[in-house]
Amino acid sequence: MRRTRVYACRPLLGRALALLEEHCEVRVWPDPEVPPPREVLQREVQEAEGLVTLVTERVDAALLEAAPRLRVVSNVAVGYDNVDVAAATRRGVVVTNTPDVLTETTADLAWALLLAASRRVAEADRFTRGGRWRSWGLELMLGQDVYGRTLGVVGLGRIGRAVARRAVGFGMRVLYTSRRRHEDAEQDLGVQWRELDELLAEADFVTLHTPLTPETRHLIDRARLRRMKPTAILVNTCRGAVVDEAALAEALREGWIWAAGLDVFEQEPLPPDSPLLSLQNVVLAPHIGSASFATRARMSEMAAENCVAVLTGRRPPNPVNPEVLERPR
Ligand code: GLV
Repeated sequence: MRRTRVYACRPLLGRALALLEEHCEVRVWPDPEVPPPREVLQREVQEAEGLVTLVTERVDAALLEAAPRLRVVSNVAVGYDNVDVAAATRRGVVVTNTPDVLTETTADLAWALLLAASRRVAEADRFTRGGRWRSWGLELMLGQDVYGRTLGVVGLGRIGRAVARRAVGFGMRVLYTSRRRHEDAEQDLGVQWRELDELLAEADFVTLHTPLTPETRHLIDRARLRRMKPTAILVNTCRGAVVDEAALAEALREGWIWAAGLDVFEQEPLPPDSPLLSLQNVVLAPHIGSASFATRARMSEMAAENCVAVLTGRRPPNPVNPEVLERPR
């Protein structure tokens, strides 16, 4: 008898493959670094009941159309803007994600970028390796203090809160903006609510933690960058398109803001002609927010659990379109 088939768009970590193989026949795209080409994906989904995707896979209406047997798209990520969830829902395909397990790891990276950008760590490394260090100097590599300053968190979800919690150790005042007020966090973490434009004008560090939706695309645009302090630092670990990247490059070049730390970009991988690459006052990382050994293994396993649950008729732990589960098949 034909076994239920799953296509995994990358080799998975931890026990994920074993979990899938207990119940399904699994085909895996073998290259850990490069996603499957579109034509491979289109061919593989023709026979697949389950698809395990990364943020690099565009699961749009056309791909879903080519997948008559598909019952679940299991994204190995908390964000799922790479999936057309409405199209999946129309076709009765469950979409799942991997929340919670990556919260602390991603918050750590936001702080790593904040500290690196404010104290010029990446630039100092290039300077030291480049043999340009001639003497200890009073004015060598001066940066911005972090301790005791004001952090602005845009989006107070799980990751935004984890970033805010870390600010206690740095003696910071924390402002936040969100679609709604979070009185629990105001009490527990001492964070203060502001309108976005007020937060941008007041904060020394602005860290972004919103999902990418039509409402948040280019949320940080030219006008908003202009509102920030000339000493301010912008950190983005959510999605590149939340910031107008061309405007950000201009802001960094012209000194509207002081520096940035970026893990995500409008186009990934960052194109070789990106203006960001020639700027010293931006720290760049290749979308590694959740990239710790333990977290990436746990994300892989969660994605496998979500996939197997749907394919064995159980409720998956992390559906993003649970309404599909309520419908009779
Ligand atoms: C990574 O970007 C994720 O959404 O988990």
